[in-house]
Amino acid sequence: MIESAVDSSLNGAFSSKPRYGDMRTGMDQNSAEPVIFRWFPEFRGRIPWVDLGLQPTPIEPLPGFGHGNLWIKRDDRSSSIYGGNKIRKLEFSLGEALQQGKKRVVTFGAIGTNHGLATAIFCDILGLDCTILLFDQPVTLNVKNNLWHLCSTHADIVYKQSLFRTVLDYFVKQRVRFLSTYFLAPGGSNTVGTIGYVNAALELKEQVDCGLMPEPACIFCPVGSSGTMAGLLLGCQLAGLETTVVGVRVSLSHFGPFAVCTAGAIRKLAQQTYRYLKDRSPNLPEVSIPAPVLLDEYLGAGYGHPTLAGGDAHEQMKTRKGISLDPCYTSKAFAAALDHCRKDQDQRRSILFWNTYNSVELPQPVAASDQIGISPELRAFLNRSETVGYPEHDPKPRKRRSADPMKQL
Ligand SMILES: Cc1ncc(COP(=O)(O)O)c(C=O)c1O
Repeated sequence: MIESAVDSSLNGAFSSKPRYGDMRTGMDQNSAEPVIFRWFPEFRGRIPWVDLGLQPTPIEPLPGFGHGNLWIKRDDRSSSIYGGNKIRKLEFSLGEALQQGKKRVVTFGAIGTNHGLATAIFCDILGLDCTILLFDQPVTLNVKNNLWHLCSTHADIVYKQSLFRTVLDYFVKQRVRFLSTYFLAPGGSNTVGTIGYVNAALELKEQVDCGLMPEPACIFCPVGSSGTMAGLLLGCQLAGLETTVVGVRVSLSHFGPFAVCTAGAIRKLAQQTYRYLKDRSPNLPEVSIPAPVLLDEYLGAGYGHPTLAGGDAHEQMKTRKGISLDPCYTSKAFAAALDHCRKDQDQRRSILFWNTYNSVELPQPVAASDQIGISPELRAFLNRSETVGYPEHDPKPRKRRSADPMKQL
């Protein structure tokens, strides 16, 4: 095993890494700019943006799931290099980092972070240095796989174990360590990143107008750091879509006294993003952000813990559509969508599942997974942790909330 970790960093642990940087020339170049610049031309040059992905992402029907009007938005294919919901956000946040002349991006996530992996890959491609701070989560195969790929980027990976130590490092140590650094919020959910999902809602409206699907009565998406849902909420208002965005909470609601994944936090982020846009275009229509519909009961034992319902949803999606969902985010959101399909049999009301998990195969890292230069502390954690999969039985009956937020639909 190669272990040349310096200060818990994996950087340089093995010499020959796939060169994401070399992919720049072969990268997706959208033929068109984001639709938000067509809808509101005054944003051109006033909102930072860099072309990283492939948009619009497809919309496809999902037959065979017991509802004749169920659809999927394929954000899993939002780039030909690495898809998922992070790409839309990074187009705006890394665009801002470049515009501000920053040389390094610092962000954090759990050890299986999709956001950290996407950030590391696209920083390599854009020639930005990158530091990813990591904390523990339940170890699943998806987590190990992501970590393996993360180690094959050029990011400095700093394992802090607990969320508390990670947050402290992000807000204190890293701020004095590097000059010219762009501090990216976890999950990429800062104000500019959220514009990625405002843009996605406008894109959806154009696809509905083209007849690709009927206007959705509701959209189901997972909610972690809230940017995806906040952007969709605001974007649906700006687009004039009468769609209810239903968020499925997959993360802890509070960190200490701070609300991180609550209806209030989602609405606040949507409002901040609206103000940011309004400052750059006084002509932007007046909208009010509706109260977010956030479902709590699909979380299971906590962030990153696979659930029975998620396992069933994953299995159905894999068998019928050949798409793999992940245990942490998308399987829980799709479980909620399937429950809704069972309850609402009105086939006139279309349901859109927004798939936020990458389905693009990454290049194989050059080192085997047991050979990557993981810091001793992280390797010790992986060694003592059991690799968990979807449970076969629910350990406890799932809690039902007394007030059913779905009644608002
Ligand atoms: C695959 C996937 N889906 C959904 C989410 C949640 O999105 P958001 O953080 O914007 O709430 C994440 C966040 O990391 C994710 O990795």
